[in-house]
Amino acid sequence: MILERQNMLNINQIEKELGEYSDDDEIHDISKLVSYYQLCHSAVSEFGTKLENLDADYQVRHDHNPIHHIEVRMKDVGSLVEKVNRKGLPIRFESIKDNIYDVGGIRVITNYIDDIYTVQDNLLAQDDVTLLKQKDYVRNPKESGYRSLHLVATVPVFQSDGVQVTPIEIQIRTVGMDMWASLEHKLRYKTDKPEEKVAKYSESLQDYADEINKIENNMQEIFHNL
Ligand code: GTP
Ligand code: MG
Repeated sequence: MILERQNMLNINQIEKELGEYSDDDEIHDISKLVSYYQLCHSAVSEFGTKLENLDADYQVRHDHNPIHHIEVRMKDVGSLVEKVNRKGLPIRFESIKDNIYDVGGIRVITNYIDDIYTVQDNLLAQDDVTLLKQKDYVRNPKESGYRSLHLVATVPVFQSDGVQVTPIEIQIRTVGMDMWASLEHKLRYKTDKPEEKVAKYSESLQDYADEINKIENNMQEIFHNL
């Protein structure tokens, strides 16, 4: 058996080893970011456990489980800096803490469209969960065709010296919406593609988003009638 120890950054070590090369403000920013990353990672674990428990509950006590699967991710430092820049904010720790809510992220893939709201309700019914923001791109799809329910919600994380209420982003979408978003994401972010190709495919993808939506609605109806 292999016991894997995470090669986590240690803030005392950072302050000591970077001290000679950098000014205090910058080092403190790095230290604070490392601590905040750990906190967000723990918040993802808290929500992950909540979702796993719901998944198990549905599996054992219900005929239908709304949850198809769950994905978790931490935002990489490159995307973090890019996002702070895009928002026109100074590249400082406070900008991240006060403005970026998806340092930690969870995606819940559901079987049907209604299941999206079941998962949302099940999470928000929990006493320690607080909703900060909700964007419903299922009922109001983006112009691209993107559909998904986005929540920013907090959960208390119990640290060695007290509790830190920490936000993460939760995206809830169906299998079909997820398939669509994965391909569209490739088109959008692989910028080496010729422009006319991107324009052409974007249009097709807008149509496909509507078709997938129709199919998912019809399949949900069959499921309800079974
Ligand atoms: P940012 O998080 O700064 O992008 O802005 P925001 O929080 O206002 O954005 P929003 O909540 O609308 O979207 C955040 C995330 O949703 C993105 O990082 C993507 O994962 C996903 N997303 C949003 N719009 C699209 C889209 O048109 N296509 C795809 N594939 N994904 C999208
Ligand atoms: Mg966002």
